[in-house]
Amino acid sequence: MSDPVPALTDRHGRVHRDLRISLTDRCSLRCTYCMPAEGVPWLAGSTMLTTAELVRIARVAVGLGITEVRLTGGEPLLRTDVVDVVRQIAALTGPLGPPEVSITTNALRLPALAAPLKDAGLRRVNISIDTLDRERFAALTRRDRLHDTLAGIAAADAAGLHPIKLNAVAMRGVNDDEVVDLVRFAVDRGYEMRFIEQMPLDAGHTWDRTQMVTQAEVLASLRSAFALTEVPGRGSAPAERWLVDGGPQTVGVIASVTAPFCGACDRVRLTADGQLRSCLFSRSETDLRTLLRDGADDETLGAAFRDCLAGKKPGHDIDDPSFLQPDRPMSAIGG
Ligand code: 5AD
Ligand code: SF4
Repeated sequence: MSDPVPALTDRHGRVHRDLRISLTDRCSLRCTYCMPAEGVPWLAGSTMLTTAELVRIARVAVGLGITEVRLTGGEPLLRTDVVDVVRQIAALTGPLGPPEVSITTNALRLPALAAPLKDAGLRRVNISIDTLDRERFAALTRRDRLHDTLAGIAAADAAGLHPIKLNAVAMRGVNDDEVVDLVRFAVDRGYEMRFIEQMPLDAGHTWDRTQMVTQAEVLASLRSAFALTEVPGRGSAPAERWLVDGGPQTVGVIASVTAPFCGACDRVRLTADGQLRSCLFSRSETDLRTLLRDGADDETLGAAFRDCLAGKKPGHDIDDPSFLQPDRPMSAIGG
């Protein structure tokens, strides 16, 4: 009998299939819920993984049953060799075949990169767009670049990077009156709009539970304009989805705070400086960079993956009074 497929299983029985790799902590925008306007403490260049290093880690992970690799940031397209990174990761293979490679991006560089990324083996993109209003966009991201994001979305569509998913963090008094317009924009073009509940991951530690726009509020607003029918079978996907006016287009809500999906989580994260995190909200990390630079073999790296996941907590406990926000902001973890 052949060996069973290796799996990165934690103590709660969750099998990990999805590796998120942050390619850089830099970004071309400064979204208020993510980064301060100025004075971001960047990761030091010498601590950043080289492409050979991060591809090696991805290779070990794919060998352990990872089937999805998502590249994140900061803004992953700021990495100058991102096309090469995609090509090398898409060419890996493991017991379950080659991984599906996708990117979470602000889309600003997609007009130049969508076609080469598709050629290199990229399957899909998730694009962040919180508003369709130019002045709001400029206030929210501190850069007047709505036009470039829209051009990037169109470029992804033209390059065939389907299905295109658009992400918005719903914020009270900022864009919560725009959820219907955002869904219309997406539905008209064949994209999927997804709203994310804001999580306590901002560099400024300003998150406030009472200010957060909940899934229930988003759905109530949407129901004033559309008939929503729940799509069953969420699996390990964080988004719950609804058909819009009978479909085929859907809208999703990622209710990380009010309906956490930790019990089905299959994700593990690698930061741009080579630290493995079992959760966005982990208070500890596994230092793969030092292991790698000290000459660790694949087996040792694989054991480090298993050790990291052995310590994975059952959930994030955002609602617990003892909850502590991680030291790293989202831009240095990877979404
Ligand atoms: N809460 C929820 N989502 C966030 N994102 C960034 N910061 C937060 C936060 N604090 C989103 C971005 C992007 C994705 C990577 O994560 O808008 O869509
Ligand atoms: Fe950049 Fe994304 Fe953070 Fe906005 S949310 S500042 S696009 S990393």
